[in-house]
Amino acid sequence: MMNKRTPLVLGNWKMNTLPEEGRLLARQMVPIIKDGLHRRVEWGLAVPLTHTGLLATELRGHALLGAQDCSMHERGAYTGEVSAAMLSASGCDFALVGHSERRQYHGETSIQAGLKIRRLQEQGMMAVYCVGESLEQRQSGDYATVLQTQLHEGLQGEGLSLDSSALVLAYEPVWAIGTGLTASPEQANEVHALIRDWLLRNRGPEAAAAVRILYGGSVNASNAADLLAGPDVDGALVGGASLQIRAFADIVLSAC
Ligand code: 13P
Repeated sequence: MMNKRTPLVLGNWKMNTLPEEGRLLARQMVPIIKDGLHRRVEWGLAVPLTHTGLLATELRGHALLGAQDCSMHERGAYTGEVSAAMLSASGCDFALVGHSERRQYHGETSIQAGLKIRRLQEQGMMAVYCVGESLEQRQSGDYATVLQTQLHEGLQGEGLSLDSSALVLAYEPVWAIGTGLTASPEQANEVHALIRDWLLRNRGPEAAAAVRILYGGSVNASNAADLLAGPDVDGALVGGASLQIRAFADIVLSAC
């Protein structure tokens, strides 16, 4: 049975492109995607902070603009940090939170990710909370527990919005990020179903029906359609391929 969740495809440019290059990429992607869409699909780009001004203009009315992180604090003496309010004022609609590269290289925890989700939601922004297991954790067979802990720690506490425009989850197995190794459609859907079941048991049927769960990890134009066909896969979070105009357009269009 088709679900009612609007498919969502997000690109994550990571620390790539200079602002002007980014603007040109977006400028070329927008018309190709716009012309190809024949049913409602949301799409967007999580870009470096230096690009938000230019990209807000390019994407307005077509796609969502996002950041790749935000501060867990509201304001104050946090050198180098950027607040959710600043992102919102720069035209961002969403931000990634808890990406595995932030966890790996900056020691970020799920508890901190939870605070960031709050800050974003306070600004009316969408938080895209990334979870996923390492290769070791997958091989040990422990991945379900790892994911459940990430969900518990990141989504705990009262008052969190579970509305589809306030929270998106992204399953990104660390072993599949930038490695060319992709989870099989069956592996992806198995974990997505597990996450949805967690939502159902811990947050109720409305949240389980509403929250979109994206798959990320070496998604490309050739494997996207198969991955997106899973009933619990509501879209994709795309790294490397989101820097290629035709490949990213094809991935977005394969969600139609
Ligand atoms: P790749 O698509 O390059 O594997 O990156 C995935 C990712 O980390 C998206 O956030």
